Amino acid sequence: MKFFIDTASLKDIQDAQDLGVLDGVTTNPSLMAKEGIGGEENVKKHYKAICEIVDGDVSAEVISTDFEGIIKEGEELVKIDDQIVVKVPMIKDGIKAIKYFSERGIRTNCTLVFSAGQALLAAKAGATYVSPFIGRLDDISTDGLQLIQDIREIYDNYGYTTEILAASVRHPMHILECAKIGADVMTGPLSAILALLKHPLTDIGLAKFLEDHAKVNA
Ligand code: E4P
Repeated sequence: MKFFIDTASLKDIQDAQDLGVLDGVTTNPSLMAKEGIGGEENVKKHYKAICEIVDGDVSAEVISTDFEGIIKEGEELVKIDDQIVVKVPMIKDGIKAIKYFSERGIRTNCTLVFSAGQALLAAKAGATYVSPFIGRLDDISTDGLQLIQDIREIYDNYGYTTEILAASVRHPMHILECAKIGADVMTGPLSAILALLKHPLTDIGLAKFLEDHAKVNA
């Protein structure tokens, strides 16, 4: 399973890259705003800086919601770097734009997906990635992981090559369950990735090993 980090923070992206397990980055307008990145040129510069840190796909989201606007923005975004994937919302004009981009070899990430029907439509339009938001479904008492399972089954039934990018991942169990189901990619915060490291028996065991070593190596 590929690991993407879901942030626009250059520091967190660098930390995940330094860990040696990072395959890509996803961003969204809220994450860009959180870093205080605004204005067309600043946004482009920031995406370029992200592409220089990570050796993998970087999802850059369009703001437009009409077909012409999405196409114009997407075509500008992909000029920034070969690593850029155009992130397009799951709306009617978004699906049309994904089809347009896929016919021209421009890679897309269909975002804000909350149902298997939406994921089926994204695959039919030729999306490179589909992003079901599992954490936000869990937030409203709906099983986000079941959605990943349903999409996996549908895509496997027909051999769709659209990659399932489990998004809105909040904690390590989301990552593990997505891996068991067979999501192609997960995107989450650095905290969820680092939480995979943790086990109390590791800490206790290491402390004991070092203590015993010290006894005979004073
Ligand atoms: C997906 O690409 C989104 O950026 C993201 O995963 C949303 O996560 P959130 O629900 O934690 O905001």
